[in-house]
Parts: sequence; structure tokens; C-alpha cells
Amino acid sequence: MGLMDASQKPHDRLAAWLADDMAAVNVLIRQRMASEHAPRIPEVTAHLVEAGGKRLRPMLTLAAARLCGYEGENHVKLAATVEFIHTATLLHDDVVDESQRRRGRPTANLLWDNKSSVLVGDYLFARSFQLMVETDSLRVMDILANASAVIAEGEVLQLTAAQDLATTETIYLNVVRGKTAALFAAATEVGAVIAGVPEVQVQALRDYGDALGIAFQIVDDLLDYGGTDAAIGKNTGDDFRERKLTLPVIKAVARADAEERAFWVRVIEQGEQREGDLAHAKALMAKHGAMEAARAEAIAWIGKARAALAVLPEHPLRGMLDDLADYVVARIA
Ligand code: IPE
Ligand code: IPE
Ligand code: MG
Ligand code: MG
Repeated sequence: MGLMDASQKPHDRLAAWLADDMAAVNVLIRQRMASEHAPRIPEVTAHLVEAGGKRLRPMLTLAAARLCGYEGENHVKLAATVEFIHTATLLHDDVVDESQRRRGRPTANLLWDNKSSVLVGDYLFARSFQLMVETDSLRVMDILANASAVIAEGEVLQLTAAQDLATTETIYLNVVRGKTAALFAAATEVGAVIAGVPEVQVQALRDYGDALGIAFQIVDDLLDYGGTDAAIGKNTGDDFRERKLTLPVIKAVARADAEERAFWVRVIEQGEQREGDLAHAKALMAKHGAMEAARAEAIAWIGKARAALAVLPEHPLRGMLDDLADYVVARIA
């Protein structure tokens, strides 16, 4: 248990509080990313794992379990499982999105190739299943297997919604709930489940993860237009290039006049993008307050996440999860 310092960011305070557990998770991740016969596996995995990442999802599992009074050791396995699933989806996602930067480094698909990213991603998925089986909990396996399917479903839905200006906010919500919130929700839910707390508390932690995940992805989508490459460790403008209908774009399209609509049809539907188009897209979003409106929705989801915590017992970790919710939106600033 680490020191409390109110001046630290919520994410850092959570990391300090969970430092021992998190160290155990990192040891387990390093052990299980090994491969007896294929050196490419630890090469690719180490490239991504050593770059760090925020480790948000495993921290959510650890925090949920500890907050619910869990004293065993399976929370460490589950946190590693969750980070393995996350890492596998990142390897696949960067192939699908043709991305070149992740966690401040060139992506694995750029350094090696798409084949390596897909196959090592598959390996990590399989490793995650092995880890979760070790907990001997059918319910936990059900939750994580379901989350894995829903993540893939969200990514496929996004694939078919991309380049389609008719994409609605409802479709967008289904995409982010699938590709991102499903794992956040599963991460917090399994922590509560292994602790054996009453169902209302399991549901509360699940609801917290779901709402936090949705807000997190809305903010991530805002940062793709308004952030900097250095701050996000990825290239900004990827979503525009991939012609994705993220929330600020959907809002700007909904408020477009005829001339603006012709612009969106050209760059998003027809994919004819020229120099200056990204800047023009940002100007249109600013004109219509699209970024602000999307940010307001993220804040509303944060409100839902925080409200869900109310039925949980008083605990320093509950306060940290509460603060973490605010921080997720604060990272836009
Ligand atoms: C990236 O997640 C994928 C999204 C859901 C936007 P994170 O931003 O949590 O990635 P890392 O693990 O910190 O790199
Ligand atoms: C990431 O979605 C979600 C998953 C990895 C399943 P994005 O494609 O929006 O996230 P980044 O910007 O690449 O991290
Ligand atoms: Mg991506
Ligand atoms: Mg993607």
C-alpha cells in the first residue's frame, strides 16, 4: 500500500496504492508473454509492453477487487488477463487502422509486419484465456469471454460504419461500448465477482466500468483531432485519414450546410483527401461547437460512472475511482 498524496494525479495515486499488486501483475505478464519456440513473440510483445501504457484496465481490476475486500491472489491473474486482452486488441487494431505510432513508439506492424502483429495478437489472446482458466471461476470466464467477443464485434461494426455519413450517434455508442467499454466493464466486474460481494455491488462496478470506458473513448476520439502526437503517443489525425465517423464528426456533419456537407462527402465518403482538409475539418467542428458537444457527452458519462459508485462501501479506493473518472475527461485540457 503506497503513500497518499492529494497533489498526485488520480491515476498515479491509484498506481501508488496498488503498487505491490501491480508489480505482481507485471511479473506475471513478463512470464506469460514468453514463448518456448518462437522468439518473434517476446520481441513483439516486449516492444509494446516495455513501452508501458497507462495500465488502466488492470488497475481497475485490482482496485475493484481490493475495494470489495478481496484477500486472495486471483485478482493479479485477472488483471494480467485483462491487460493481455487489451494488448492483443492493440496489436490487431493497429493493423486494421494502419497506424504507425503507439505508446510513443513505432507500431509493431510498422517495425515488423501485419502478419507478426496479427499472429502475436492471437497468441496473447490465447494466453489470456489460459490465465483466466487458472482462477477456476466459470463466471469470470463467462464475463471475459463475452467481453472478448463484444470487443471484436465493436471493431467490426466500426469497420462497416466507417466512411458512411449516415452513421448515427446510436451506432457510434454501440461501437465504443463494444470496442472499448466492454473491457473496462469486464475489468471492474471480475474484480467484484472474485471478491464475492452482493450482486448490486457487482453491477455497480460493472456500470462504473462501462460508463468510464465510453467517456474514455469519446475523449480519445477528441484527442485524435485536438491533442498532440507527443501527448497521446500516437499520431493525431488517424481517424480522419481512416474516415471514421467519431462523435465530433457526426455532430459537425449533422450541423453542416450544403457546402460543408459536400466537403464531408468528399473527404469521408469518397476518401479524396487533400492537403489542408484536416485543418478544414477541425475548423468546421469548431464552428459548430462539435468538440464541446462531444466533451459534454463524455462529462455526462463520467457523471454516470461516479453515480454508480454510491452503493459501494466507504474506502480510499472508492474515492480514487471517483477521481479517476474526472481525470479521464480532464486529459483533454
Ligand atoms: C488505447 O487504450 C485504446 C483505446 C481504447 C483508446 P489506452 O489509452 O488505455 O492505451 P494504453 O494501454 O495506455 O497504451
Ligand atoms: C481502440 O480503438 C479500441 C481497441 C483497441 C479495441 P481506436 O482505434 O479508436 O484506438 P487507438 O486510437 O488506436 O488507440
Ligand atoms: Mg486504432
Ligand atoms: Mg481502431
